[in-house]
Amino acid sequence: MGIYVAMGVWTQGKLPQFCSMEDFVQDLWRTHSCGMLRSEHAGEQVVLCGWLHRKRDLGRLVLMDLRDQSGVVQLNFSAYGADEQVMRAGRESVLLVKGELQRRPEDARHSQLATGEVEVLVAHAEVINEVVAGELPYLFDDERVRTKEALRLQYRYLELRHPEFQNTLRLRSEVCRQMRELLLQENFVEVETPVLYKPTPEGARDFLLPSRLHPSKMYALPQSPQMLKQLLMMGGVERYFQIVKCFRDEDLRSDRQPEFTQLDIEASFVTSSAIKHLCLSLCRAIWQDSALSFEELSYAQALEYFGSDKPDLRYGLPLVPLTSLFQDHPLQPLAEAAAPPRISSSLPVSGGGIYGMFIPTKLIAFSRKELDQFADRLKAASQSGSARFFYFKVQEGELSGGLARHVSSELHAEILRCGRAAYQKMMPKVVDSSHVSCLFEEVHQQGTWFLVSSARRTEAQKLAGELRSEVAQRSVQQHIEGLRSFLWIHSFPLLSYSAEHGCLEAVHHPFTAPSASQRELFLSLHSKDVSQACGLLSDAYDLVCNGYEIAGGSLRIYQEDMQRKMFELLGLEAVEVEQKFGFFLEALRYGAPPHGGIAFGLDRLMMLLLGKENIRDVIAFPKTTSGACLMSQTPHSVACELLEELHMRFSESGGADTGPEK
Ligand code: AMO
Repeated sequence: MGIYVAMGVWTQGKLPQFCSMEDFVQDLWRTHSCGMLRSEHAGEQVVLCGWLHRKRDLGRLVLMDLRDQSGVVQLNFSAYGADEQVMRAGRESVLLVKGELQRRPEDARHSQLATGEVEVLVAHAEVINEVVAGELPYLFDDERVRTKEALRLQYRYLELRHPEFQNTLRLRSEVCRQMRELLLQENFVEVETPVLYKPTPEGARDFLLPSRLHPSKMYALPQSPQMLKQLLMMGGVERYFQIVKCFRDEDLRSDRQPEFTQLDIEASFVTSSAIKHLCLSLCRAIWQDSALSFEELSYAQALEYFGSDKPDLRYGLPLVPLTSLFQDHPLQPLAEAAAPPRISSSLPVSGGGIYGMFIPTKLIAFSRKELDQFADRLKAASQSGSARFFYFKVQEGELSGGLARHVSSELHAEILRCGRAAYQKMMPKVVDSSHVSCLFEEVHQQGTWFLVSSARRTEAQKLAGELRSEVAQRSVQQHIEGLRSFLWIHSFPLLSYSAEHGCLEAVHHPFTAPSASQRELFLSLHSKDVSQACGLLSDAYDLVCNGYEIAGGSLRIYQEDMQRKMFELLGLEAVEVEQKFGFFLEALRYGAPPHGGIAFGLDRLMMLLLGKENIRDVIAFPKTTSGACLMSQTPHSVACELLEELHMRFSESGGADTGPEK
């Protein structure tokens, strides 16, 4: 009883006012912020601090712009005279000025600038920290666009001063506030989880950390707090969230960083649709749009009609599944791709696939050379070696070029029927219906059919999906900028077969539950039942925005036997299971509630919110694509003595004193 009473004091009572914020404001160096000054402040004495943004020496009159986080204001030195140190100070020097705010003369007002009606008549100025004129590595405002990214990353603090970056950081902080407020309102609890921990299997490599106290043992930096948030559910927390750093050693891309931030969420006694609704509320709050909605596709539909598990639905160009039309076709690669799959008990059987895409002439008219290049590139990109590209043109119903002589009028009619069906099914899900998304019936008279085939269906889908993105890049990019598409993808497969490793792998992660209706089947399988195992569906889901995966999650396994079965299917030996997951399996034995969750990639979400193309543009101190920080030269070489303390030694090839990669 006692603890509940104590909790009540905090949750129901109002917190006492411990200190007045007025004291904080009064004790500051300055009275006003530069960017806040307006004509109604005219006549007030102001003390300002900031950076010398620009200096104009007009002979009898010296004007300067002083900048702080809130903006820029003009300083007029006509009443102060030419103080030598102030006049000498280079751009970006830190100044303190005192003076009276006055209205500018009529002809000197600047309507574009928020503070353009006023200026400070300087009575006193001090250089608090001088930048020697001409010594700045680059001028971050005018020259920023032209300055190489490597130099900007080396002097990241200069780049951060730019108003655009200041806005980015403010917005990021605002987004975190929105997320926190919404989740706290729904009774979620923010809990921190450790960073020095055991490996979490999220599909990437771990960053490992040696320890002085534990020879030949390592901590792993968390790829995500997956097991820990599940353990919080087992600890009765019921609703958890955390804005948390995750670490993954994987190949970097424009939307990936080795350390990134997640909004991590987990809840007990939830359904996947409850999680979806929570995500919708979060997105509406973040994008400040109460009408924002999610389209939905199953994983299988996303691949079948868009060739990707994260399709961009701002534009149309759906793929048209054509496989069944080409059985017994005289062209061998097409017939091979359309042949029924050969049944094998030990390997998953998907068979081949043929996917069409119709590109209206009004969008792009392709030259013969370009089409040949597509064919060459696709063949080269085929891992199975069987993928092929075909095309034929349509003009007023007449077929020509490429595959045309192998497409009878009956086959063409069948292709159109399939196209119509695909368009009817998928076009209502697409945001832009004016450009690529024009009605199938209107456009099929004039354009080019692309066909992608492969003896492996997943390969045909993937290559056709890549072609779809490429065509869109060239044709509709300018029309879709500013549009947003949110897509909830569900019904992911639980397991996939890795030909490379010769075993089953978890599609999401090994804690994801099989779909409720397949739990018995799941429990009855063995790791050799690859074909059946690959047919299992899971309760996993992803949220996709404009072709980027911004969140992913699932309902979890919460029974020990199921979790053991999962590890068994993944080919883990009993000893390994005990070593890596023994504590977790034990926890499942002592009262684990059904639970599920999701994690948003905060950096990716910010990229989309701000319309940035690179994840580095939304992170204060990002890493390069080789995982380095150019400002601090991280990672850094380590002295041999330090290594010894950690009971470590670099191998000959590693080289103990190798410098950081640039
Ligand atoms: P997942 O691995 O899908 O799920 O990650 C969740 C989201 O994190 C973002 N993300 C990244 N962002 C930047 N750089 C990276 N290297 C990177 N990797 C992932 C993506 C992704 O959607 N524990 C599970 C979540 C769960 O099941 O609840 C997990 O981490 O936006």
